[in-house]
Amino acid sequence: LLSLPPVELGFKYFEMFPQEKEPIWTNPCDYYRHKELWPVNKTCDRLPNFIIVGPQKTGTTALYSFLNRHSSVKSNKPSPKSFEEIQFFNTNNYYLGLDWYMDFFPQRSKPNETLLFEKSANYFDSEVVPKRVAALVPRAKIVIILMNPIKRAHSWYYHMRYHKDPTALNTSFHDVITANEYAPAKVKRLQMRCLSPGLYAQHLVRWLDYFPAKQIHIIHSDELKNDPVSVMESLQKFLHVEPLINYARYLRYDPGKGFYCVVQDSGQMECLGKSKGHRYPPMDKATERYLRRYYKKNNTNLSKLLSSFNTEVPEWLRQDLKEIP
Ligand code: A3P
Repeated sequence: LLSLPPVELGFKYFEMFPQEKEPIWTNPCDYYRHKELWPVNKTCDRLPNFIIVGPQKTGTTALYSFLNRHSSVKSNKPSPKSFEEIQFFNTNNYYLGLDWYMDFFPQRSKPNETLLFEKSANYFDSEVVPKRVAALVPRAKIVIILMNPIKRAHSWYYHMRYHKDPTALNTSFHDVITANEYAPAKVKRLQMRCLSPGLYAQHLVRWLDYFPAKQIHIIHSDELKNDPVSVMESLQKFLHVEPLINYARYLRYDPGKGFYCVVQDSGQMECLGKSKGHRYPPMDKATERYLRRYYKKNNTNLSKLLSSFNTEVPEWLRQDLKEIP
């Protein structure tokens, strides 16, 4: 039997099995031999029970803040690097390893009751994420929020303008959306971030490759905005969180903000900051028609896919699938 010193052996191994260069983290406690190697002072308990995967601009931050109001639900500590989200499974943070990820989660105050979660809103449309999540937390529940992708694209564009992105400031929404292959790379990049997350069927199918539909909960963004109390009730039932609380006590509509806000124990209302729920001009009809055509095929597939989930076809999708004028 031939061998080599450890470092050289490592190089040799990856030379022979290059496909294994890409790490994939699994839960060390799921396999007894790994668990035996895992130091006694470490736990496998600081991993999420559920993840809000996005997509961006659908109300993920509002949902995150509503969930944090529940005494049995605890979120990750905010990451100083990426607008509070951990963004572990979709970025190079993944290579920082399990300890790095687990350090974001608090100890469970009541081990059998407390549910841990994180939300990173661009997990939804990332190619690698479902596979990585399934490897590490195969029993985690996945929460997805869907809104009319045309509105989502528009909201993202104004989000970028709000953050003074020069491309968004210097290019109209119509020009971004309709940019062709010869457009500047920055415009094409912005176009991609406006359009791609809204190809819901394409992304959902990827999640379904790794998670059964019953482990995925779909929330409709309009419902979250207009009737968050009902949304929170069905989400709590899906998560089996205890106690089941009536969110009518914890959420109140703020006419100034135009959205529901969280009522704190002191009675004070806490709304999301200015960057969430801002007002912008309506979309012109030509751009809307263009986008309806753009999303038509994907939306048709989405309406078929939704029958696998415990959810209704939302009104915007029904309207959108009607004949395009
Ligand atoms: P706009 O800022 O375009 O109105 P996310 O947190 O996923 O980025 O989503 C932001 C969007 O959440 C906002 O988009 C807003 O429409 C929506 N939203 C839903 N419920 C909200 C709430 N209670 N407070 C603020 N924004 C809310």
